[in-house]
Amino acid sequence: MSYIVFARKWRPKDFESVLGQEHVVTTLKNAISQNRVAHAYLFSGPRGVGKTTTARIFAMGLNCKNGPTPTPCGSCDSCKETANATNLDVLEIDGASNRGIDEVRTLRENIKFAPSQGKFKVYIIDEVHMLTEEAFNALLKTLEEPPSHVVFIFATTRPYKVPPTILSRCQRFDFKRLTIDEIAGKLKDIAKSEKLEIQEEALYTVVRAAEGSMRDAESMLDQLVSFCGRKIDLESAASILGMIGQEVLFDFTDKVITKDTAGILKLVDRIISGGKDMPQFLNSLIGHFRNLLIAKVGEDPQSLIDLPKESIERISAQANSFTSESLLYILSILANTQDAVRRAISQRIPLELAAIRLTRREDLSSLSSILSRLSEIEKRLEAKGNPHATQPHVQDSRREEKSNPEKNLNLSEEQFTVGVGVKNPLDVSFERICEIWPTLLRGITPKKMSVAIFLQAAQPLKLEERILTIAFARESRFNKEALEANGNRRVIENALNEILNQELRVDFKIVEALEKKVSVEEPLYEEYKEETHEVIKSALDIFGGNLKKKGPA
Ligand SMILES: Nc1ncnc2c1ncn2[C@@H]1O[C@H](COP(=O)(O)OP(=O)(O)OP(=O)(O)O)[C@@H](O)[C@H]1O
Ligand SMILES: [Mg+2]
Ligand SMILES: [Zn+2]
Repeated sequence: MSYIVFARKWRPKDFESVLGQEHVVTTLKNAISQNRVAHAYLFSGPRGVGKTTTARIFAMGLNCKNGPTPTPCGSCDSCKETANATNLDVLEIDGASNRGIDEVRTLRENIKFAPSQGKFKVYIIDEVHMLTEEAFNALLKTLEEPPSHVVFIFATTRPYKVPPTILSRCQRFDFKRLTIDEIAGKLKDIAKSEKLEIQEEALYTVVRAAEGSMRDAESMLDQLVSFCGRKIDLESAASILGMIGQEVLFDFTDKVITKDTAGILKLVDRIISGGKDMPQFLNSLIGHFRNLLIAKVGEDPQSLIDLPKESIERISAQANSFTSESLLYILSILANTQDAVRRAISQRIPLELAAIRLTRREDLSSLSSILSRLSEIEKRLEAKGNPHATQPHVQDSRREEKSNPEKNLNLSEEQFTVGVGVKNPLDVSFERICEIWPTLLRGITPKKMSVAIFLQAAQPLKLEERILTIAFARESRFNKEALEANGNRRVIENALNEILNQELRVDFKIVEALEKKVSVEEPLYEEYKEETHEVIKSALDIFGGNLKKKGPA
């Protein structure tokens, strides 16, 4: 008998065994029993949480020989064929590999014919967001006048990539990540019937690494069995899973935090010899540091980080060890490394270099520590009744800095403001703005680096009167939100004024496709030099002296 992987072997065959998606299951069962089946459904949600499974069970219910029924028998020919994906009336189409107009045309031809044995023709289109625009248009025509026997189920991990014209014709269900308890419960059941001896801690290591995806949990358990046999202890689980998913990202980051150069090089070696796909690994690493940054600066990381609560807690804990400036610096190194990896013949060298730079980075926390020392001193001077002892022009910002150390970068904003209130006649074209764009970014970099970095993902879109609209692609939503906060808009407006001598307002917009109007070829900065940073400069002016460089570890 051939070996069937756990994820397939343990695929639920009835609605009752679909865990964690009660909201979806109940509505679908009611739709069948009340004879109110819609023509199109959209199942969205992370991978491995039951979208395809639920679609098949729904199709089974519709076409079961006792059907339509919310409790398909599972044993009639139709049910069995649907479970094996061989039912002629239940067609599964993978949007990722059948992206084109031809497939959709064939589908449209095919739709006209009545179901061969069942009552419904069910089309399950997986990864629907991958279809081409043409294919979507063709699909849309079908959705406008679907024959009464047709039910579409679209599944996607990226609902925001599905055109609104399609979305508006579907009844939508959002599938959720499964909880720790739900995953642990199912793994325990599997372990029992597969006669596995798995230590409780080992099981929970798997559960945590799965990040809410039941399929990932089942596949990891499968891998552990093939490595360890039926007896699985924590040590082997940890060492094998250490190379999978998030664990390696947390591990890498811990080494960056402790500046453990030797340790990180060993880790890099394990990653490379483990055959990990390097560009993909760097992507995940950049994603991880993006999450750290959000945990650091965001008000509500839960809504911006698409991970289970436990992972977000770990991320927040790691984020505490960094300043947001350090995180931006690390992100910029990783982005450069990604470029280097793409160009280089060796994947190892760029990653090793990055690892060394990250673990020997200068301590950028000095930035906030200098400023908090500054306000400490000021407080003491004030207590002594000598408010003029420090330089007055930085006083306000230092107050702000006390309540929120991240705001200290706003100091430089003041030095930026020139000629407010004096309006020059409008004398600038959109073309001119495109021309000076690189200059603009480089001008902003030393004043407020985060603004320049966030703005790098954007493109100027249009200039109307005095309003310059700046466009972001959907995936850069976070950049836009960051620029809308903390007076960042003002920083851009001031920089524009400085360069063009024109008072413009900026506005941000999310667009479907980012039209490349300008390109910034050179990196904004080679290396982040503390000495040149305006805030540091003013601090040094006050304290006197030089910054001490930390030697290599
Ligand atoms: N809610 C769930 N309850 C029980 N098992 C589940 C659940 N979700 C997923 N599984 C397990 O994971 C396997 C894969 O699930 P499924 O194919 O339905 O995921 P999916 O959401 O369609 O993922 P993808 O987006 O990657 O296609 C199933 O065969 C089953 O073993
Ligand atoms: Mg699926
Ligand atoms: Zn049946």
